Amino acid sequence: MKTIFDEVKINKLKVKNRIIRSATWEGMAPEDGSFPEELFNVYHELAKGGVGTIITGFTSVADEDQYFNGITRLSNDKQIPSNRKVIEMVHGEDVRIISQLALGGYYKIFYDGSIDLVEPDRMSTDDIKLVINQFKDAAIRAMQAGFDGVQIHGAHHFFLSRFISPVYNHRADEYGKDVFGRMKILKDIYLAISEVAPSLHISMKINCSDFILGGLTEDESMMICEEMAKLGIDSIEVSGNGTSRGGIRVGVNEAYFGEFAASLAERVDTPIILVGGHRSIENMEKVLNSTKIEMLSISRPLIREPGLINRWKSGDSRPATCVSCNACYNTPNHKCIFVLRGME
Ligand SMILES: Cc1cc2nc3c(=O)[nH]c(=O)nc-3n(C[C@H](O)[C@H](O)[C@H](O)COP(=O)(O)O)c2cc1C
Repeated sequence: MKTIFDEVKINKLKVKNRIIRSATWEGMAPEDGSFPEELFNVYHELAKGGVGTIITGFTSVADEDQYFNGITRLSNDKQIPSNRKVIEMVHGEDVRIISQLALGGYYKIFYDGSIDLVEPDRMSTDDIKLVINQFKDAAIRAMQAGFDGVQIHGAHHFFLSRFISPVYNHRADEYGKDVFGRMKILKDIYLAISEVAPSLHISMKINCSDFILGGLTEDESMMICEEMAKLGIDSIEVSGNGTSRGGIRVGVNEAYFGEFAASLAERVDTPIILVGGHRSIENMEKVLNSTKIEMLSISRPLIREPGLINRWKSGDSRPATCVSCNACYNTPNHKCIFVLRGME
């Protein structure tokens, strides 16, 4: 019988339970991409709240990446000290921490000094190699700072997700043509990181489907996951486009990407993490015991209740109080609107 509180080891990562805080962009970082004190406090609350692992919010690998505001970065050695401080605090609470390495968009600097967003079709091979190196260098910084692992963000229509999607990538070279060409960038990034940072747990987050006409299908996503598993990736977090669905009802529509994740877990030996709509211990343990899925990750419920896992551990097993309203996407620093209004 698996429980959410089992101590587990998933490829280089020994954790005190099966619950991960999935990457959540708090939007608090200053322009230089470092961790400000206020964000440190958010992580402190999370680390004290009982999760076994924290995946950081979207951490850009590029200085020029202006896809959205307040993102942390590992694009420069100057960002290492503030990351190290957070990691030491998190480790002090017996929690593991993974940096989510991401690129919102590829912003190319042209000869005249202008910067423009360049989509996959317009990128030269040198541009692609530059991006691969940016991921590699960010992983080296993550290792130097003391992270337990890195997660390659290949989901939610950010740069890598667009690159592997047939809607955005119409390239006719080795980085396009078919699903194997489109995914070559993921392979190259994984291989580059595993060579320079072999001690890190390397994970990948991916859409099980783009859920749009002509987008990445479940069949293609499955092929990509199987290829990455063959290469030796340490874990795969299954998500999907439109990741934060509204209207989640306990026992009705929790774990909404579960079907894909369950069949993937049957087909590969790689540990599978499932995100999206976990709200009750009952349903989470049903997922764990009816499939080979190893880990479950949670975002919005921990915005409302950072101490949710400790609450459950103490015996108060009522479901998460998060109502999946998605107001947290628009509130200052992505705080829960109910908490902001004193309605905890
Ligand atoms: C405010 C907010 C910010 C998010 N930022 C990220 C992010 O930086 N990277 C990422 O992969 N997913 C991000 N997500 C998506 C979550 O990690 C998760 O996949 C999604 O919310 C579904 O899980 P949940 O039902 O537990 O919230 C974010 C979600 C929210 C609500």
